[in-house]
Amino acid sequence: MYSEAFCKVYNEFGWNYFPEAFGEQLLLWIEENHAVVRTSLDLACGTGVLCEILHAHGIQAAGMDLSEGMIAIARKRSPAIAYEVADMVSYRPQKSFDLVTCTGDALNHIISLANVAQIFHNVYGCLNPGGYFIFDLLNEKEVPPGEPIDLDFSDTVKAQFQITQDGSGLICLKTAVWENGKLQFEETIRETVHDREAVCALLEQAGFQLLQCSHQLSRQADGQAATWYVIAQKPQ
Ligand SMILES: C[S@@+](CC[C@H](N)C(=O)[O-])C[C@H]1O[C@@H](n2cnc3c(N)ncnc32)[C@H](O)[C@@H]1O
Repeated sequence: MYSEAFCKVYNEFGWNYFPEAFGEQLLLWIEENHAVVRTSLDLACGTGVLCEILHAHGIQAAGMDLSEGMIAIARKRSPAIAYEVADMVSYRPQKSFDLVTCTGDALNHIISLANVAQIFHNVYGCLNPGGYFIFDLLNEKEVPPGEPIDLDFSDTVKAQFQITQDGSGLICLKTAVWENGKLQFEETIRETVHDREAVCALLEQAGFQLLQCSHQLSRQADGQAATWYVIAQKPQ
């Protein structure tokens, strides 16, 4: 679970470029594919950046996240967007949507594949016929364990990030923040790299048609990201 302090660092010090880049590619993909998207739900929406991008493009966007700290920031940033605190493994929204997204390796925070399968089942249940489920997945090349990275946010605020692997092979992202030399907080987030084929098989078992699993969402996207972008559709 993300602590309040970690959520603040997440919002203020720069992980927003993930949902911003995803949002840019997603809008291109919608345009290229003439996809009709009037309503959307972002699972594990974090601080709500992707919801804001979709909302600004006329889509009725909603978001949910397990972390109260993330949702508090999202609500403060955009009071017009509907946000909920919930666990996506058990979340069954009352409404249905044209698009469900889950980005920023949020599905890699779900360690058990049985829980991933449950999420796919839930998403299938809340999509309109023909609706899309679009998410990203970590590729293990993206997260090599390494030396700590030091960042100076200001003269007084310094942070350190380090990726390691624990005994069971989980990826551990340790974040520490100091202000005026005093440790403010330290937090370790654990994620796993799922087998891509296993995830695609689970989508099909849930009833989805797998449209794409590649390193780019849009054909127009720059370069080759290491992330997997997965696009699945609920049949009409
Ligand atoms: C790396 S952040 C990504 C946030 C956002 N999607 C983005 O791209 O900025 C992962 C998010 O997953 C959320 N999360 C983890 N497990 C969750 C769960 N079981 N249900 C809902 N949200 C969850 C965390 O609280 C966190 O906000």
